Amino acid sequence: MVKICGIGAGYVGGPTMAVIALKCPSIEVAVVDISHSRISAWNSNKLPIYEPGLEEVVNQCRGKNLLFSTDVEKHVCEADIIFVSVNTPTKIRGLGAGKAADLTYWESAARMIADVSKSNKIVIEKSTVPVRTAEAIEKILTHNTNSKGIKYQILSNPEFLSEGTAIQDLLKPDRVLIGGNQDPEGLEAIKKLKDIYAHWVPQDRIITTNLWSAELSKLADNAFLAQRISSINAMSALCEATGAEVSQVSLALSKNTKIGPKFLNASVGFGGSCFQKDILNLVYICESNGLTEVANYWKEVIKVNDYQKSRFVHRVVTSMFNTVSGKKIAILGFAFKKDTSDTRKTPAIDVCKGLLGDNACLSIYDPRVNETQIQKDLSMDGVEWEHPIHLQPLSCSVVKQVNVVGDAYEATRDAHGLCILTEWDEFKTIDYQRVYENMQKPAFVFDGRNMLNVDKLREIGFIVYSIGRPLDQWLNNMKIMN
Ligand code: NAD
Ligand code: UGA
Repeated sequence: MVKICGIGAGYVGGPTMAVIALKCPSIEVAVVDISHSRISAWNSNKLPIYEPGLEEVVNQCRGKNLLFSTDVEKHVCEADIIFVSVNTPTKIRGLGAGKAADLTYWESAARMIADVSKSNKIVIEKSTVPVRTAEAIEKILTHNTNSKGIKYQILSNPEFLSEGTAIQDLLKPDRVLIGGNQDPEGLEAIKKLKDIYAHWVPQDRIITTNLWSAELSKLADNAFLAQRISSINAMSALCEATGAEVSQVSLALSKNTKIGPKFLNASVGFGGSCFQKDILNLVYICESNGLTEVANYWKEVIKVNDYQKSRFVHRVVTSMFNTVSGKKIAILGFAFKKDTSDTRKTPAIDVCKGLLGDNACLSIYDPRVNETQIQKDLSMDGVEWEHPIHLQPLSCSVVKQVNVVGDAYEATRDAHGLCILTEWDEFKTIDYQRVYENMQKPAFVFDGRNMLNVDKLREIGFIVYSIGRPLDQWLNNMKIMN
């Protein structure tokens, strides 16, 4: 029986290993992590992450061919194939701080593999890493185990899942990318991994490349996706200035088969743990290779994203007579997108901090994010949360002007304005007439996800701002005042 060990039981490691276990009953899959709290949650009825369909997959395999453990060394030692899905956050200090990927967790995983291994292994980069990381990993592995005569093959098998649709993405991937050495041993390792995916992925969707192409393709993939969002968000600002409507522009673009329909939704800005960190990583790699112009090109994608978030805050403040001081603002949605409880780099953090900076009182509701998480996100420096849970502070200060509540009606009661920051489906079916009646007047809606029916809201009496849509008279006048 082939034995797989997945190091890192996070948003990637947990779901990917669970799906491999589901699709390959003849393979024993052990998922290990240094975080005891995470592993005990994986072994409980309340999984550590919310992801539609994940619970069903885990319930089908856990206790059969899928196990979660903190005994990292034992399972690494026993495995034939090791997937490494540890975090690779942006470096906080030292050389390349603020841009380069922090490979501390990867390096310690590699050193541990070298220490405990007693047989040949295929080591797979699942985490997103800088191009040529495999070279460094190989050095760590071979340098430490020369005397034992153990052979390692390193493969790059980047993950392309999106949170909120992870299980569907894993069950029906549009592609699986495997990069490896092009010598006979490398090709044999590639084949072994290909055979695992072939249990459920059609052969023509499994692409094989050399190591560096696979590593760089992952960074390029995220950079291209984020670039599309910044492109449409840049257009949204121009739409507001000219009376064009961004959803109509998106529709027109989407019908161009050279462009396609996905990732054209203007928003308050992209969030999530990866886009910003991976672009920064790309920028650093370009700079390290003396490619200043290329680095500057990709930097703009992040700058436009920051601009979009501050533009939103600016709209809220200017619309409400140039101040939100002491005013209650309801925040509907805090997660970085719908169908996830993940708040890493969510645009809601910057928007809320911007409003708090103008002394607003926030009443926040998100169907999946709890108060502790929101308070942590608003009181801490964001980068700390990208590091493993056990390295994070146990408690943090409470932001007094923030109140986290249990539903949208409570959040909006007596509020002066409401902001939609995550596109949760349930926000479409709120009784906005009831909301309006219980709000201060004039009552404002700021739709950061372009998900509400603007005409209906205006009929009710709201003053509405929706990204990239023609401004109503009120907002136009306020623009002039400003
Ligand atoms: P995560 O923080 O949710 O999970 C990483 C886990 O690794 C943590 O639980 C941590 O405790 C554990 N860990 C760290 N060092 C370890 C060690 N030495 N031994 C054992 N466990 C260790 O991160 P994530 O979101 O799953 O991302 C992991 C990687 O996958 C990153 O490189 C990320 O860029 C990439 N990625 C993420 C996504 C996504 O949607 N989140 C998608 C594709 C790729
Ligand atoms: C993204 C990529 O889509 C995945 O392919 C990749 O594997 C993953 O990053 C990763 O490497 O971590 P994810 O961040 O989970 O996935 O979610 P996305 O659906 O890409 O959304 C990212 C952000 O962009 C969200 O804040 C979302 O609301 C925003 N977005 C997305 C828009 O503003 N407009 C869009 O049209 C699409």
